[in-house]
Amino acid sequence: MQIIDGKSLSQKIKRDIAKETQNLKETSNIVPGLAVIIVGDDPASRTYVGMKAKSCKEVGFYSIVHEMPETITQDEILETIKMMNTNPRIDGILVQLPLPKHIDTDKILGIIDPTKDVDGFHAYNVGKLVTGLDSFVACTPLGVMEMFKEYNISLEGKDVCVVGASNIVGKPMASLLLNANATVTITHIFTKDLKAHTSKADIIVVGVGVPKLIKEDMVKDGAIVIDIGINRIEDGSLVGDVDFENVSKKCSFITPVPGGVGPMTIAMLLKNTLKSAIARD
Ligand code: GUN
Repeated sequence: MQIIDGKSLSQKIKRDIAKETQNLKETSNIVPGLAVIIVGDDPASRTYVGMKAKSCKEVGFYSIVHEMPETITQDEILETIKMMNTNPRIDGILVQLPLPKHIDTDKILGIIDPTKDVDGFHAYNVGKLVTGLDSFVACTPLGVMEMFKEYNISLEGKDVCVVGASNIVGKPMASLLLNANATVTITHIFTKDLKAHTSKADIIVVGVGVPKLIKEDMVKDGAIVIDIGINRIEDGSLVGDVDFENVSKKCSFITPVPGGVGPMTIAMLLKNTLKSAIARD
C-alpha cells in the first residue's frame, strides 16, 4: 500500500508556481491577482479563505479578500463581482461557498467573468469541461487528476466509482475521468446499493462529507481510494469519508486525511489563477 502524499506534491507545485510567477513579473510585468469573496462567518469557510490568501502571498500573487456580513444583499455581492470583472489587476474571482440562504448561488456564480472563473463553477466552463475543451476546472477534482499523474496511475479503461454528485466535486470529477477514458459510475444519495458499485471499482473517489462512509468490505483488493471528505468528529479530530485504518490495508494507493486531497485544492487554485494571468490581454 502506498500513501498518496498531497502535502508534499502541493508544495512542489507551489514552488513551481512561485518560479513561474517571478518569471512572469520579470518578462511581462504581470502579477497574478486573486479576489476572494466571503459572506458571513462560518468558521470552516474563514479558515479556507485564510489559507487561500496565505498561499497567494507565498507564491507572489496579489490578492484581496472581500469580507461581507451575513446580512448583505444579493445586489451588493453582484456589484462587487462586477467591479472585480473589470479590475485589470484581478485574474481570478472566487466566491467561497456555501452562501447564505437568501442569496441565489447560481446567479452569483453566473455573473463572474468566465475568463476569471478560477473555481471553474460558471456554466460556460462546466460546458467546456464536459465537451472536452480547455477550460477552468474545479480545483478539487483537478487536484485529484494531478495526483493520478504524479503517481503514474493510468485511468484508461479503468472502472471508477465517484461517490457524490455535487457540482463542486462529483460531477466535474466524473467529467475529467471520462475525458481520460475511464468507465465512470456516479453514485449519490439516492443510489440503492452503494457497496455493489464501490466493490467492483478499480478506483473509488469519494467526496460526500460522511465520516468513514467507505468501509473495508466495500472495497476490492488492490483498489485505489481517493478521499475528498474532511469531517470534524466529536473528539475534535479530522477524518475523511473513508475508514482509513481498515480500508488502507486493502488498497494499492490511498490518500490520507488530512494531507491528501485538501492541500491540492489550493495548489490548483493558484495554478488556475496563474493560467488566467498568462492569458491576460
Ligand atoms: N466551498 C467548498 N469547497 C469550495 C471550493 O472549492 N471553492 C469555493 N469557492 N467554495 C468552496
